[in-house]
Amino acid sequence: CFRYFPLPIVLDILSSSHYIDVTLPSGSLSSFLLTMRFHLIFLFIPYLVLSLPIRTTSKRNNERKLPEAIIIGVKKAGTRALLEFLRLNPHIKAPGPEVHFFDKNFEKGLDWYRSQMPESGDGDVTIEKSPSYFISKTAPSRIKEINPNMKLIVVLRDPVTRAISDYTQASSKRRLGQMPSFERMAVGDCAPWSKVNCSVKIRGVNSGWGAVRIGQYHKYLQRWLKEFPLAQFHFVDGQKLIDEPAEEVKKVEEFLGLKPVVSPADFELDSVKKFPCIKNPDETHHCLGKTKGRPHPKVDEPVLKRLKRFYEPENDRLFALIHQKFQWN
Ligand code: A3P
Repeated sequence: CFRYFPLPIVLDILSSSHYIDVTLPSGSLSSFLLTMRFHLIFLFIPYLVLSLPIRTTSKRNNERKLPEAIIIGVKKAGTRALLEFLRLNPHIKAPGPEVHFFDKNFEKGLDWYRSQMPESGDGDVTIEKSPSYFISKTAPSRIKEINPNMKLIVVLRDPVTRAISDYTQASSKRRLGQMPSFERMAVGDCAPWSKVNCSVKIRGVNSGWGAVRIGQYHKYLQRWLKEFPLAQFHFVDGQKLIDEPAEEVKKVEEFLGLKPVVSPADFELDSVKKFPCIKNPDETHHCLGKTKGRPHPKVDEPVLKRLKRFYEPENDRLFALIHQKFQWN
């Protein structure tokens, strides 16, 4: 009752002297019924009719909508940081966990996908992030089928740093001592248990090893560009997201058609990890969890150089494809 009828009106009906009249002697009954009828005809019914549009609008305001934009990747490039920073904008609604609808949960259906989204109102933009979509063979066409106008956000980072980050995450999941060194995986003979064929190298690098392979961004992007025009993509520089988070977030807010509200005042550098954290209004900080911003192993200089040389032509192909250049060196 209180959801639909403002409190003052309900109180007026309940506490009016006519309601109290119920306790009066039966002689007052006819006057009581008369007044109740007055309330019903002149207050309640017009109120119900007039408030109908308001009530239906407020229902519409709390729908779960399918996303209009997706952060499709790239894994270990800063996708979590981007999502958390975007959520500073009250018009951006996003589920916390990765949904993985278009690659792992597709058979659960669209209603399930919608149910994973938070409620949103008019003027809000619903987004989700599942970084494995970027390398998925099925995600591009499935997304197009559901919304050919989907906005696609891709966080890109120097592929050498991204490969080291990927390796650091993989080795943190294995028991200590089980993972060969980064150098051995990237340019050596990998590991006996590894499924990667490390006897075939390209420009001296194990390009088939996942951590290296994903950094050949142009190869995966071509798949996406078969389904969506370049204008529907926005590329975030993962390094700038660390150095100048507000600047990078502002560009995404604009890409989503929103008035930018995130500003440099929203961030403060974590003095230990040296990554930006969100500054709350009460001066406390929200930094990303301990799986983000892990210390990286020190990699031999000649191996780093070989990887950089390996990625040079790969990066050039990417830059030509997206008509945009990143200063990653
Ligand atoms: P590392 O943990 O290897 O440093 P993703 O969220 O896509 O998996 O990316 C994780 C990477 O985001 C981290 O990799 C880190 O380098 C980077 N990153 C960017 N901004 C960050 C932030 N504000 N806090 C922590 N990590 C951040």
